[in-house]
Amino acid sequence: LNLCKFHEKAEKRPLLLLDNTDVKRYHGDIKIIKEELKMAVSFNGKHLAKFIRPEEYEAIYPQVELAHNQLESKTGAGNDFLGWLDLPVTYDKEEFARIKEAAQKIRSDSDVLLVAGIGGSYLGARAVVEAVKGLYHNEVDDGLKIYFCGNTISPTALNDIIKLTKGKRFSINVISKSGTTTETALAFRVLRKLLEDSVGAEEANKRIYATTDRAKGTLKQLATEQGWPTFVVPDDVGGRYSVLTAVGLLPIACAGIDIDALMQGAADGREKFGKLSPDNDAYRYAMTRNILYRKGKSVETLACFEPDFTMMNEWYKQLFGESEGKDQKGLMPTSCIFSTDLHSMGQFLQDGARIMFETYVDVKHTRDDFYIEELEGNFDGLNFLANQNMSVVNRKAMEGTILAHTDGGVPLGLIEVDSLSAHDVGELIYFFWRACAVSGYLLSVNPFDQPGVESYKKNMFALLGKPGYEDRKAELEAALKD
Ligand code: PA5
Repeated sequence: LNLCKFHEKAEKRPLLLLDNTDVKRYHGDIKIIKEELKMAVSFNGKHLAKFIRPEEYEAIYPQVELAHNQLESKTGAGNDFLGWLDLPVTYDKEEFARIKEAAQKIRSDSDVLLVAGIGGSYLGARAVVEAVKGLYHNEVDDGLKIYFCGNTISPTALNDIIKLTKGKRFSINVISKSGTTTETALAFRVLRKLLEDSVGAEEANKRIYATTDRAKGTLKQLATEQGWPTFVVPDDVGGRYSVLTAVGLLPIACAGIDIDALMQGAADGREKFGKLSPDNDAYRYAMTRNILYRKGKSVETLACFEPDFTMMNEWYKQLFGESEGKDQKGLMPTSCIFSTDLHSMGQFLQDGARIMFETYVDVKHTRDDFYIEELEGNFDGLNFLANQNMSVVNRKAMEGTILAHTDGGVPLGLIEVDSLSAHDVGELIYFFWRACAVSGYLLSVNPFDQPGVESYKKNMFALLGKPGYEDRKAELEAALKD
């Protein structure tokens, strides 16, 4: 099973590049032979040994049992939002087929797909697309370009999106469970008009795809009136758990990603990380987070040495930030891409206030590799890196960083991922979901609500003079003057 693509030249060279894989060479080819597809995703706590004692895991495990049982019996806080638990197997197959058809149509009749949504209606789709296809998929790949919008109120951003549609055949996927989210609704009203002006109202109605509530809300009503193809955000799945519903699946399928493999990965994750066991890696990660939190750590930094993981970092921040940051509690989720951010955040992580622990997402097989040639004359002094692949250099950077940061007193756990394939990303998503739910219950918060996000909206509406907010407007304006 050849899981990796190597640089053409690398295939003719020694196996230095493969020091982290179980590999056999035969018939002049390099093949990765895996006995079985064991764990695409696992948690490795070997660098945590000097920070957490085994008894600490044993002491907290009964609380994990309780959290697990509350999840399974749907008796814990937020139990109306547990649709994600079995989603990888119980998902709506008829809608799944319609998503594939819609994606095929969009890929054949459009140059550009604008995906309008924010928060849970945005991050997961973009995270998976960029993890699997790469940060530069729009520039590198032929065919459909996918741009995410409706996730800001910046006029500059909206104008740039408008420019990207110039002279292009485009479609819109508007995603909003409530249908009333300001950022998304504002962008959508502009982009819809742009589309209608470009192709006429009748054709525009065939190019607008609405992902929203099954029955209620402004967007649902509008979609029904206009006859737009619609997809459902299930009632029992919250925004940050919605990437494997139509919310994420339609844009992901439009990017040409195999959504069957993605769901299979999540289903495999459900098998592995849905079991009650001290060896359940999602639960070990949840326990690690909670133990370190109780020891005074207030920040988790999720880091990856692959830039394609940038938006997965953002998705993780929403998942854990919205789930745990309440009742004046919770670890603050932060993220880095290394080695890039070692040149900015590296100093603080090594030497600054000891408030954080780190979790590295270790991607075992990268999407691509690059063979480093020897340079005649060695003018840059880098020939010590020659005759091996860049993935090895990246790995050595990771190993060096792990040792430096743990020496500097930063507890550090590893989430090991075979690759950023659709399957493995699906499994990783389920890993994070389970870990987050249990982590939230260990903190005694409701991991499935987000009451705090309303405050800025109320103030913004009041300051903008939305009817019904008159009293608050006067109060806020007075406060701004002081
Ligand atoms: O997690 C959440 O609930 C939020 O991030 C929402 O997904 C976000 O506010 C978008 O909401 P809606 O889909 O209703 O437009």
